[in-house]
Amino acid sequence: MTASDVRESQSRNWAMRVRAPAPGSIAVIKATLFVLALTPLARLVYGVFADRLGANPVEFITRDTGDWTLIFLSLTLAVTPARWLLHWPWLLKLRRMLGLYTFFYALLHFTTYFWLDKFFDLTAIGRDILKRPFITVGFAAFVLLVPLAATSTNRMVKRLGAHNWRRLHRAVYLIAPLGILHFWWMKAGKHDFHRPIVYGSVLAVLLAARIVHFWWVRRVTSRAEAALNPTTGQGMRTLGSKVPGKVSSA
Ligand code: HEM
Repeated sequence: MTASDVRESQSRNWAMRVRAPAPGSIAVIKATLFVLALTPLARLVYGVFADRLGANPVEFITRDTGDWTLIFLSLTLAVTPARWLLHWPWLLKLRRMLGLYTFFYALLHFTTYFWLDKFFDLTAIGRDILKRPFITVGFAAFVLLVPLAATSTNRMVKRLGAHNWRRLHRAVYLIAPLGILHFWWMKAGKHDFHRPIVYGSVLAVLLAARIVHFWWVRRVTSRAEAALNPTTGQGMRTLGSKVPGKVSSA
């Protein structure tokens, strides 16, 4: 057994202890997450009533909800790599809620713009979408989020079929860069790229993790196939439990 095998087995042993919380504990984790995810909204509502949103409350709300959309998008995309790294399959049970909170904050963000900023002036909104690239890109990201939220129920997964559902939900790999581009363009006027770079790097790592994982699964699978081929003279024993499970989406 090599040093890396020992390390991997230790990390698995440690992770196993928290691998499968009892169904009751998962319900508690979900309820806690549900409440925690509402705190940014609660803070905004409090800010409105306590008059604590600064000189331009609409701008404050737009920016805050935009930030939280990106944060929840990052958390949603972090579930799968975290599941692989920690060997905690149960994390998947939190992904739908995180994804729906991404949509929820995007909807609040869009509604703030649509209602409080533009007062439902469809001509002004249309002009903005056509003429201001950062709005065009943000709008595109939002439009792409709608079908993902609409098909998030178990019923819709069944109706579409797992394969089509997974294909549709790959749109998130486009939504994430569009969200960053939207933020980047917004900040371009002031040459203030610090935060778009931070968010962009986090999302880039989360997307790159999928590419690395996909490559690794391919490599291990092709090695397994080679080992099964008697002409190579290798046995499956050499691969042990390293053959990972199915690659999942998002
Ligand atoms: C997935 C979709 C979207 C994401 C992830 C997103 C994200 C963001 C972020 C991070 C900010 C900057 C927040 C800050 O300064 O801290 C922002 C600002 C903004 N976004 Fe979005 N956005 C999205 C969709 C939209 C849509 C659909 C619209 C309107 C059509 C929109 C309009 C705006 C406006 C007006 C601002 C503020 C600009 C300013 O204050 O100068 N966004 N958005």
